[in-house]
Amino acid sequence: MKTIVYYFTGTGNSLAAAKKIAAALGDCDLVPIALLEKNCGDIVPPADRVGIVCPVYFTGLPLIVASFVGRLDPAAAKYVFAVVTHGGGGESAALRQLDRILRKRQGRGIDAGFGVAMPGNYILMYDSPAGKDQEEILTKADNEIARITGPVSRCEKCDLPTSFVPRLLHTLIYPWFTSHVHTDDRKFTVTGKCTSCGTCVALCPAKNIELVQGKPVWRHHCELCCGCIHLCPVQAIQAGSNTEKRLRYRNPDITIADMKAQRGDES
Ligand SMILES: Cc1cc2nc3c(=O)[nH]c(=O)nc-3n(C[C@H](O)[C@H](O)[C@H](O)COP(=O)(O)O)c2cc1C
Repeated sequence: MKTIVYYFTGTGNSLAAAKKIAAALGDCDLVPIALLEKNCGDIVPPADRVGIVCPVYFTGLPLIVASFVGRLDPAAAKYVFAVVTHGGGGESAALRQLDRILRKRQGRGIDAGFGVAMPGNYILMYDSPAGKDQEEILTKADNEIARITGPVSRCEKCDLPTSFVPRLLHTLIYPWFTSHVHTDDRKFTVTGKCTSCGTCVALCPAKNIELVQGKPVWRHHCELCCGCIHLCPVQAIQAGSNTEKRLRYRNPDITIADMKAQRGDES
């Protein structure tokens, strides 16, 4: 059965999950959501099974993913599933948001939705887990992804997880997040360590960064994925003094080239 998995990632967790699911399913194309420009109109996936894999942001979907789901028309697909990676919570609210958007627009929701706990990457608020803690989380995540591929390969319908607290938080904090996410890049600065290598420009899935006189400038259509901060090779990008002391994170199964491919540039 032909499968298409659409993905969005900031630091590689969701891409690592998507790749593992694709390998287990076979005959599966991975398509970066970041490459599907808004002006392409509706997206009709040429596949019987369709998956969406992305991170949870503030108990909801990254805006770019919410907008993509609003344009997705999987009417011809036999099975639609979603996997959201998260740092510890909010997955049920994000999956329900995705289901709601699809149902409203297409009259059908997702057949199954799963959350996978992975290292949290919201560096503006906390340190990502490192060392043994990180290894433990990633081992558990691998087991969970292997478990998920069972029902997905058999196209089994599964009830979406439900939980009162994430639903309440989604109502309270997600609108706040979406109201300022694009301009939150005003917090980002670059230090004298910057070598003008352009990695941040090449990685940014929102195409939100340009080099001006050799230094990154953010153009206020940020998704807040934090990829530029985490993946700068010399840790020259900060968002206030707190991030100076925080560890950078990239999913160990994902390379910088993999990240660049998300925006169609593999070099
Ligand atoms: C802006 C932002 C908001 C986040 N909000 C949540 C959240 O509400 N709940 C949670 O468990 N993790 C949250 N996280 C952590 C990510 O969901 C998690 O680390 C995810 O696996 C990152 O995936 P990626 O590497 O594919 O970008 C947030 C991360 C960012 C950058």
